[in-house]
Amino acid sequence: MNQTSLRDVTVLGSTGSIGQNTLDVIARHPDRYVVHALSAHSNMQKLAEQALQHRVACVVVPDALTAHNFDSAWALHTPLSKKPEVRVGPQALVHTAAEAQGQIVMAAIVGAAGLPAALAAAQSGKRVLLANKEALVAAGSFFMQAVCDNKAELLPIDSEHNAIFQCLPHHDRQAHKNPGGQNNKGVTRLILTASGGPFRQQATELLQHVTPDQACAHPNWRMGRKISVDSATMLNKGLEVIEAHWLFGMPADKIDVVIHPQSIVHSMVQYSDGSVLAQMGNPDMRTPIAYGLGFPDRIEAGVSHLDLTAVGKLEFEAVDFDRYPCLKLAYQALNSGQTACVVLNAANEIAVEAFLTYQLSYLDIPKVVAQSLDWQVGQGWSNPTSIDDVLIIDQAVRTFALEACQKNKKS
Ligand SMILES: NC(=O)c1ccc[n+]([C@@H]2O[C@H](COP(=O)([O-])OP(=O)(O)OC[C@H]3O[C@@H](n4cnc5c(N)ncnc54)[C@H](OP(=O)(O)O)[C@@H]3O)[C@@H](O)[C@H]2O)c1
Repeated sequence: MNQTSLRDVTVLGSTGSIGQNTLDVIARHPDRYVVHALSAHSNMQKLAEQALQHRVACVVVPDALTAHNFDSAWALHTPLSKKPEVRVGPQALVHTAAEAQGQIVMAAIVGAAGLPAALAAAQSGKRVLLANKEALVAAGSFFMQAVCDNKAELLPIDSEHNAIFQCLPHHDRQAHKNPGGQNNKGVTRLILTASGGPFRQQATELLQHVTPDQACAHPNWRMGRKISVDSATMLNKGLEVIEAHWLFGMPADKIDVVIHPQSIVHSMVQYSDGSVLAQMGNPDMRTPIAYGLGFPDRIEAGVSHLDLTAVGKLEFEAVDFDRYPCLKLAYQALNSGQTACVVLNAANEIAVEAFLTYQLSYLDIPKVVAQSLDWQVGQGWSNPTSIDDVLIIDQAVRTFALEACQKNKKS
């Protein structure tokens, strides 16, 4: 490959688990990728290290204080190097996601906070590597419309959706090319695999007192703390069911979840002739990240090759919805509509944050989500059609869910 085929990459959420894995893959391919911009929220030390290593043109930080902290971190370690442009605030994030210099945008901010920038990348016709599943959960309909209208290239980075993408026929890979799942070329069902998280075999009554560290100790994946808790409750799988619905145009009743403790089969597609195609690999996010960066080429990711003889056995179990009530709530939200999905996501973000800061017990997470979903029925909100609509609902739910957390803590 020659220098003219270098592609510029912007990594939103570069200091997180996905962001760091993305930069790891990029560093293996200096002949293919140049990092244009990075964003982070609090970890300015890491951001400064990344900015120096990848010689980026600009970084985006949330406010004046973090900009000051970035300057200090830069001055401490790299006083003689040319400092990147420091952009500040949510609008700068949106602008950076959309600007022409970044041909590929990795959307790896955690939570609904990542939606405006991910949407801006889609609206400006980028190749969007979507890790931020909350964006599709909160805004699936108009996010996919933006992808379609602006000829953006949406590549799912969640390992399950990346697996499904790989197992679908070429022409069916994106719902916007196949609206409503019509003419689906024999695809009958999507099967998402789930590890079951760290408490798969624990007696439910013992879960009342689990700590954040126990909930974050995922058996197979090393991830950020929010998604780790979501994996334990399987609300994460619920978000993925909603994400799969929007990405691939499949109705909820044709998206199944099966527990697969080894996390080797990353998901499957079932066809009308009885075939089931699965994508396998060691559990390492660098595989889907490399797939998204290189597509349609396959590029080296630094991932060790799968040795099935060493794995020995692959197990599959049906989901017990009583053990994982959050997954049931997610299916209910998807069947209710986009508003309920915004509520599910926002209430969960508040409940998980409360759990991580010892303000809520683990078993109260589904209670807060369920109470928020019940409460929203009386609000009379219609389905959101813009970011502003989403943000209005999102903010109202966060206020309600915070109060619900406090009440559940007292009771
Ligand atoms: N980790 C995985 O294996 C995995 C797999 C599939 C999908 N995902 C999805 O990928 C996304 C990122 O997950 P992660 O595990 O990488 O999370 P993470 O490790 O917690 O990293 C989150 C990133 O977002 C930044 N951030 C946090 N709050 C922000 C805000 N309000 N505004 C702007 N930036 C903010 C963080 O900056 P600071 O660190 O500087 O605070 C960090 O760079 C999530 O949507 C998750 O569901 C992750």
